[in-house]
Amino acid sequence: MYNFSLNIPTTIHFGKGMISHLNELKEYGTKVLLVYGGGSIKKNGIYDSAMNILGDAGLEVEELGGVEPNPRIETVRKGVEICKTKNIDMVLAIGGGSTIDCAKVIAAGAKYDKDPWNLVLDSSEIKDALPIFDVLTLAATGTEMDPFAVITDLSKNEKWGTGSPYMVPTMSILDPEYTYSVSKKQTAAGTADMMSHTMENYFSMENADCQKFMAEGLLRTMIKNGPIALNDPTNYDARANLMWAGTHAINGNVGEGCSPSWCVHPMEHELSAFYDITHGEGLAILTPAWMEYILSENTLNYFVDFARNVWGLSGDDEWALAHAGIDALKKFFFETMGLPSNLKEVGITDEKNFEIMAQKACEGSEGSFVPLSKEDIIEIFRMASRD
Ligand code: NZQ
Ligand code: ZN
Repeated sequence: MYNFSLNIPTTIHFGKGMISHLNELKEYGTKVLLVYGGGSIKKNGIYDSAMNILGDAGLEVEELGGVEPNPRIETVRKGVEICKTKNIDMVLAIGGGSTIDCAKVIAAGAKYDKDPWNLVLDSSEIKDALPIFDVLTLAATGTEMDPFAVITDLSKNEKWGTGSPYMVPTMSILDPEYTYSVSKKQTAAGTADMMSHTMENYFSMENADCQKFMAEGLLRTMIKNGPIALNDPTNYDARANLMWAGTHAINGNVGEGCSPSWCVHPMEHELSAFYDITHGEGLAILTPAWMEYILSENTLNYFVDFARNVWGLSGDDEWALAHAGIDALKKFFFETMGLPSNLKEVGITDEKNFEIMAQKACEGSEGSFVPLSKEDIIEIFRMASRD
């Protein structure tokens, strides 16, 4: 296990009715910027609950709605402008990963005197941020307890992740009931996303039994509860287990001490940057193709463990087991969870951007478990295009 330092200062309030803790925001000032997405929080009543609590606590609220899935830098700029002109004290995001990520960079941009896109391109520019609070409404990204944010500039076909200790939320409210209204598509994509976070860490672990067994437990939790939530959206325990597993997949518990650079995420971010697709769907399509591409004599033992310990498969032929584990993942994503199974299904029907996307993904994944060249990534994109 490598050395690491881990500090997760986020207070989590988990469970039914925990939104009442929003009254604690008054300890951080008087003016809140409330950030939300395309309107789901107004339909399912979370907006009204939050506004009542903030009002009772004597807080003044400015609003920025309309944050897009794959949040845009233009929306971050709008939020920064509001923070600066209205002297905002703190930012509260209510929504999924896109809304929370947008709020994180707004909070950092409020303490920065140049264009916030610089903060996306160079995380060392983030030297301060307003306090960040959130109410999570979609179990997927883990942004509620991590330092990262992913922002898109579609005009340049660029989508980059940035990260800073200043962007770790101060408090996150995780009420599984708030995810009851998440669509089947987003429930499936969210499950694929948190599984990908776990697997990006898992396929690299050497002599890190603690992280490895935690990762296997998280994957089993997601594999068990994803389909229940999909078919029975108001099943509290399924939504609760997914939500908590998603948080742990990326908060450092399973990644620190063993994780190399991630590589499936940089590949997916290029697909979203060029085609604005749903993050979790892109990951579901790419992950099995990546696995088949990197399976070799050197990586065999990882795939054997994956088959045995995650999928409960058995057998003496290690190669057959390794392939069976990858097939089990495909069946789970594409049949059980109903996720798209190739790039054509998400509208990527030709290879015209493969070269440029692969070049950028290759730079973003330098140092990954199995190093990938531009040509390797083009081949993975091709494998992911097949029916
Ligand atoms: O915008 P609204 O109306 O709220 O609707 C959203 C959106 O259309 C909807 N939704 C969210 N909660 C809902 C709901 N609909 C009904 N009921 C609810 N309770 O779901 C749609 C997708 O929302 P979004 O926030 O885009 O999804 P997700 O949480 O999957 O976030 C994806 C973004 O996070 C980034 C991705 O790249 C992508 O930009 N990531 C962030 C990470 C991080 N900060 O650590 C790591 C991840 O790997 C990922 O890259
Ligand atoms: Zn992800």
